[in-house]
Amino acid sequence: MFDKDVYVERRNRLRSKVKSGIIILPGNSEAPYNYPSNTYRFRQDSTFLYYFGLNHADMVGVIDIDADTDCLYGNDYSIDDIIWMGNQPTVSELAASVGVGSAYPLRELAALVSNTVASGRKVHFLTPYRADTSALLERLLGISREAVLLYASRELTEAVISMREIKSAEEIEEIEKACEIGYQMHTTAMRMCHEGVSEREIAGAVEGIALSRGAGVSFHTILTQNGQTLHNHNHDGVLEKGRLMLMDAGAENVLNYCSDNTRTVPVGGVFTPLQKDIYSLLVSVFEHGIESIKPGVTYMSVHLSACRRMAEGLKELGFMKGDVDEAVAAGAHALFMPHGLGHQMGLDVHDMEGLGETFVGYDSQTERSQQFGLASLRMGKTLRKGHVITCEPGIYFIPALLDKWEREHINSSFINYDKVRSMATFGGMRVEDDILVTETGRRVLGGRRIPYTVEQIEDYMGR
Ligand code: GLY
Ligand code: MN
Ligand code: MN
Repeated sequence: MFDKDVYVERRNRLRSKVKSGIIILPGNSEAPYNYPSNTYRFRQDSTFLYYFGLNHADMVGVIDIDADTDCLYGNDYSIDDIIWMGNQPTVSELAASVGVGSAYPLRELAALVSNTVASGRKVHFLTPYRADTSALLERLLGISREAVLLYASRELTEAVISMREIKSAEEIEEIEKACEIGYQMHTTAMRMCHEGVSEREIAGAVEGIALSRGAGVSFHTILTQNGQTLHNHNHDGVLEKGRLMLMDAGAENVLNYCSDNTRTVPVGGVFTPLQKDIYSLLVSVFEHGIESIKPGVTYMSVHLSACRRMAEGLKELGFMKGDVDEAVAAGAHALFMPHGLGHQMGLDVHDMEGLGETFVGYDSQTERSQQFGLASLRMGKTLRKGHVITCEPGIYFIPALLDKWEREHINSSFINYDKVRSMATFGGMRVEDDILVTETGRRVLGGRRIPYTVEQIEDYMGR
């Protein structure tokens, strides 16, 4: 946890951004895995963590804007809890540790909410993404699940996003720690990437690193020879010579800040000539994307510029044809990269996505596109100093998509289907790093850069 003044300052700043009423920020509860007392690894709600800093289940933070007070609702451990789980600080002690003046048992929250509503004051809450958080809000407010979604506070949502999306120096430091764990995960995977080794063995080893050095993985590890499936969580394969292994993986450090990196490497450590051609193009798109990041430009423009570079290269390699600008405007390159260039990252690996992807990644100046491919861009708006975003281009040959587009003659003036058809078993590749937008440009986060060029990868894997 940060120093308590950090949380006091954040709550005060939030108070100054929301006009009146009270703000309720529920933390998370334990979530059962296969029976009630066998739970998933506990993960606190990130907004609760941001404002209240406490990594304990079943707490609710309340910020009273009008009275200028904060309080924490939660239950002290009973003797039974202590027998099974050990001693815990009291809720009052926990509250004091993050500069919160008062603490009450959870059962008293209902009276606070009903008194607030009865006195005509507004109760602000965020859109819940867990059923038990929604159920709590339904009970407290006496409204349906649909009404909870409808009445989530837009004013609070925008205020929270405006704060969480600009990372402070102490937050960047934590993200850097998560990136260092990511470095160890990715370089371990590279060293293990030999013919005959199972994907499961490598995935287990890298997830072990995340658990042993931080709070575990920041999302389910994607580790596969079938990288053309974008979020492939299957680890049943055994590595084969001549194929590529894609690993998209990250860690949370102990304060739950995330990293998110992807590397695609050849099994055995040497790219085939065809893999090298396509991967070199991907690296040039990646580097171009990163170099284009700076404050004041939209990430949509960076995405489109990276797509243009990709379309140029795909044309040189004979997969695309025609005018490159027209092809990108038509979205033809999305056959090979049907996703966006990146997303914000912080306490959530897709930062704040639970508050609404479009609220987080777009604003009144930058509207989300409906076009296939571009529609999947999670972050489109103007970059500002303190944003942390991923840059993660990919080139994929997705057999079902290739078949569909060819059958339906989609963008046939820009795609060389005869040549593309021969790539149906090639797979896919992606490369991804985490980037801080600085005063004048950008900085790739992580003290040690995970090898990513053809030469760096072959050199590292050949040692
Ligand atoms: N970790 C999934 C992604 O890169 O967005
Ligand atoms: Mn990723
Ligand atoms: Mn990502």
